Amino acid sequence: MMKLTPRVFSGMQPTGNLHLGNYLGAMVRWVEMQKSHECLYCIVDMHAITLWQEPAELRQSIREVAAAYIASGLDPKRSIIFNQSQVAQHAELAWIFNCVARLGWLDRMTQFKEKAGKEKERASVGLYAYPVLMAADILLYRGTHVPVGEDQKQHLELARDIAQKFNNDYRDSIVASGYADGLFFPLPEPLIQGPATRVMSLRDGTKKMSKSDPSDLSRINMSDDTDAIARKIQKAKTDPEPLPSEEAGLERRPEADNLVGIYAALADTTKEEVLGQFGGSQFSVFKKELAEVAVARVAPVNAEMQRLLGDPAEIDRILANGASRARTLAQPILTEIKNIVGFIQS
Ligand code: TYM
Repeated sequence: MMKLTPRVFSGMQPTGNLHLGNYLGAMVRWVEMQKSHECLYCIVDMHAITLWQEPAELRQSIREVAAAYIASGLDPKRSIIFNQSQVAQHAELAWIFNCVARLGWLDRMTQFKEKAGKEKERASVGLYAYPVLMAADILLYRGTHVPVGEDQKQHLELARDIAQKFNNDYRDSIVASGYADGLFFPLPEPLIQGPATRVMSLRDGTKKMSKSDPSDLSRINMSDDTDAIARKIQKAKTDPEPLPSEEAGLERRPEADNLVGIYAALADTTKEEVLGQFGGSQFSVFKKELAEVAVARVAPVNAEMQRLLGDPAEIDRILANGASRARTLAQPILTEIKNIVGFIQS
C-alpha cells in the first residue's frame, strides 16, 4: 500500500460576511485539527470570482477571512494559511482535472443549479467547473482529510471520483513512476462532524444559514455586535411548544433543532446535554442564555479580527509566507503528476 501522510486541507470563499455557520461548521473544527495534523487552510479567491466580485471588495474580503482564521485560533506558524491565487499550481492541476472529470458528473452538482438559477446559459464556465478546482485544491497536496460543513459533501464525492478516475486512467504510468500499487492520489475523506454541520437560517429552519440570504436577520455575522446578536436571536423563528427533554423531540421542529444545535456547538457540548439542561423551558428563557453564549464566543473573535485588520501589511506577509510554504509542498507533487500524464518538463 502507498504510504499516506495524513494531511488536512480546507478552504473558505472570501465573499462578503462570514457567519456563524462558517465558524461552527468549519473554523472551530479546523482549529481542533491543527493540534494533531499537518493542515492547510486556504482562502479560495479563485473560487470567489466564479461570481462577480468588485476588485477592491475582494481584496478586503481576502484579508478579512485571513484575519478571521487567525482570530478564531488558527496559528499561521503551525498551519499553512494562504490565498489560492498565489499558488499557481492549483490552476494547473485544475486544468488536468478538467480533462479527467466528466460533464455528466458536473451536471449533477446541486450547488451549481442553485447558484446559476434559471439563467444557466449566463453562468460563468468557472461556476460550472468550480468543483473541479476544489478537487485540485485538495489533491495538489494529496490531502487525506477535509473538514467541511454538510453542504460540501457532494463536491467531495466528486473529488474522490476524480482521484479514482485519475488513478485508473493513468494506472500504467503511475506504476512506471514507482507506485507499485498504482495509487497516486488518496481518496480524500470528508469530515462532517459535530452538532453544527448544517446551521440553518434564523428565519426559516429549513434553509441553510448563508451569506447570500437577503435578510440580515437570518444569520449571525462574525462582525455583529452584542446588541445585533441578542436581537437576532430574540427574533429567531420558533414554534409555540417548550423545548423537549430529548433529541427525538426535535424531529419535525427544525427551528428548535437549529437553535439547540447552535447552542451545543457554541458551548462545546451535545444537543442531548443542552436538552438535559433546558428541556421543558420556554424559548424566551433559552434564547436569553443562547444570546449570552453566542456573544461570549463571537465578540472576542470579532475584536481580534478588527485588531488584525488594523495592520493589513502584516496579514499580507502571513499570506505570502503561507503561499511560499504551500508552493514548496505542491511543486514536487505537480511535477510527478505532469510526468504521469506524459508532459515533457525541462
Ligand atoms: P464556503 O466558503 O461556502 O464555506 C466555508 C465552510 O463553511 C461551511 N458552511 C457551513 N457549515 C454549517 N452550516 C452552514 N450554514 C454553513 N455555511 C457554510 C462550508 O461547508 C465550508 O466548510 N467550496 C467551498 C470552499 C472550498 C473548499 C475547497 C473546501 C474550495 N476548495 C477544498 C474544502 C476543500 C465553499 O464554498 O465553502
